[in-house]
Amino acid sequence: MAYETLIVETRGNVGLVTLNRPQALNALNSTVLKELKEAYAAFHADETVGAIVLTGSERAFAAGADIKEMQPLEFADIYKSDFISGWDEVAKARKPVIAAVSGFALGGGCELAMMCDFVIASETAKFGQPEITLGVIPGMGGSQRLTRAVGKAKAMDLILTGRMMDAAEAERSGLVSRVVAPERLIDEALAAAEKIASLSRPSVMMAKEAVNRAFETTLEEGLRFERRLFHSLFATDDQKEGMAAFVEKRKPAFTHR
Ligand code: HXC
Repeated sequence: MAYETLIVETRGNVGLVTLNRPQALNALNSTVLKELKEAYAAFHADETVGAIVLTGSERAFAAGADIKEMQPLEFADIYKSDFISGWDEVAKARKPVIAAVSGFALGGGCELAMMCDFVIASETAKFGQPEITLGVIPGMGGSQRLTRAVGKAKAMDLILTGRMMDAAEAERSGLVSRVVAPERLIDEALAAAEKIASLSRPSVMMAKEAVNRAFETTLEEGLRFERRLFHSLFATDDQKEGMAAFVEKRKPAFTHR
């Protein structure tokens, strides 16, 4: 399929999506949202794809929602259409998604990175929620996901001042799982995604569900949820294969069943 704002490729068992609006630093407009949903749906339907990498350019992962598209909007219209709610579908991707961030990840760009399961950043990455400088606030989850990721103090600092933080501060704060040299970024993210794709699909997807549950529920309910998923994996061929391979000192051959 031809995309206007994305480059969509398959590398081995990994789906690679590159945001491609260089003239606007990958600002997220309605076409990006529509196409990202299509690309994710295609990767979900593709049995050979076990994980997705989402990236931008060296200069910008994404510099936010498209300000020029938003500028003329009126309250009644965006309220009635529930503007932005379509991004929830992107956040609910069931296969793991790794954000590979270089350059600016601002506003909706930072929020899109946080919709991914984890973030690998280049040393050049800059994260921020500058919406306050435009007379608005984060709208794609920034006030919620950033606060859960880095805690109240850092989230308030970033959201109330609109300042940017660099990759080192983002890693110290827990927003980013790894920081690598810019030229290593895509290879590092693809290697992590390929590793995930090589593992048992049901266990990978359940692991993702279980971790995400930690943000939604009490510890007791979360532990029960985890345990039930753990129990259920003993109904899979891959649990039999994974444990047999360990005992027999060989590599497992997962069938994702
Ligand atoms: C539309 C954008 C854009 C954006 C950059 N551009 N960010 N267009 N929406 N969010 C465009 C610029 O207008 C310009 O095009 C081109 O990209 C290059 O940007 P420059 O500003 O010339 O580059 P530079 O001087 O290097 O500055 C980079 C920057 C700055 C610091 C990232 O572009 C910037 O501050 N961008 C806005 C960041 C921001 O406020 N994001 C939050 C958006 S609100 P032209 O054609 O004009 O030269 C948001 C809300 C999310 O995300 C939730 C609700 C949906």
